[in-house]
Amino acid sequence: MNRVAVVTGANRGIGLEIVKSLCKQFQGDVVLTARDPARGHEAVQQLERDGFHAKFHLLDITNTSHIEGLRKFLLATYGGLDVLVNNAGIMYIGKEKEEVAAIVQATTTLQVNLFGHLEVYKHLFPIFRPHARIVNIASTLGLLNYNNNEEVREKLMSGELTMQDIVNLAEEYLRDVEQGLEEQKDWPDAYSVSKTLVMAATRVQARELAEDSHEDVIVNSCCPGWVKTNLTGNRGVKSPALGADTPVYLALLPPNCASPVGEFVVDRKIRRVR
Ligand SMILES: NC(=O)c1ccc[n+]([C@@H]2O[C@H](COP(=O)([O-])OP(=O)(O)OC[C@H]3O[C@@H](n4cnc5c(N)ncnc54)[C@H](OP(=O)(O)O)[C@@H]3O)[C@@H](O)[C@H]2O)c1
Repeated sequence: MNRVAVVTGANRGIGLEIVKSLCKQFQGDVVLTARDPARGHEAVQQLERDGFHAKFHLLDITNTSHIEGLRKFLLATYGGLDVLVNNAGIMYIGKEKEEVAAIVQATTTLQVNLFGHLEVYKHLFPIFRPHARIVNIASTLGLLNYNNNEEVREKLMSGELTMQDIVNLAEEYLRDVEQGLEEQKDWPDAYSVSKTLVMAATRVQARELAEDSHEDVIVNSCCPGWVKTNLTGNRGVKSPALGADTPVYLALLPPNCASPVGEFVVDRKIRRVR
């Protein structure tokens, strides 16, 4: 059966460029997923016109039946999964950031950027093939230095951190926002919290994979840089193609490489989380 790579939130921005680059470099099929079928098909057709062949599959990462549908499709068509790039993400900016209630922003942001990523990973975990590569797109905004809360930092840096601890922290943050305590408790904004927790989840996933029977399956998180996309209101210093460079580098790490594993990577270099 063919090898297969899946990219989430890939109808535009960095995700679309990751698909394009994988079409050039990955030995196998590339599946472009999107939450909106029309936008997904349009992106695949655009790639086709440019000479790249990707397959579309529906995936809203907050919809468990979509995730299950993808898992069944991958299993039936490919017998497993070789590359997963958890790219889909949202950030409130401009007018929306000013006008939408803080609790709505916090809930929606964590739902997509954290819980969506974790659900996709959890459902696809059983079908990771030997040498599979998983890339979680985080952000330097999630670096713990941005968070002044010593207690949270200590929990996140513990070698015994579990996925449940991460969920508990996310819920604690949401309760604090609901009660208007986020400034008093030194939480950064919702987007940064979501990315801090994705970076922490990546370390937990790496530890679990090392203890599990999966053979040479590697997970890393990364920041694509500040990229001109819808998410940033087209502000930024990098093109989406440049933003795709580090995620694709991590998606194509060679078999049995020792490093990076469970790291946060920026411009192809490990950035230590403190
Ligand atoms: N741009 C930057 O400077 C920057 C910096 C650091 C990290 N990042 C991260 O890079 C990733 C890609 O961002 P981008 O800049 O390329 O943003 P973008 O152009 O806004 O693309 C985001 C993609 O995510 C999709 N998406 C949103 N919610 C989804 C959901 N529930 N299920 C499935 N797909 C969903 C969007 O689909 P629709 O088209 O349907 O909305 C879109 O395809 C994000 O995780 C972002 O946080 C970006």
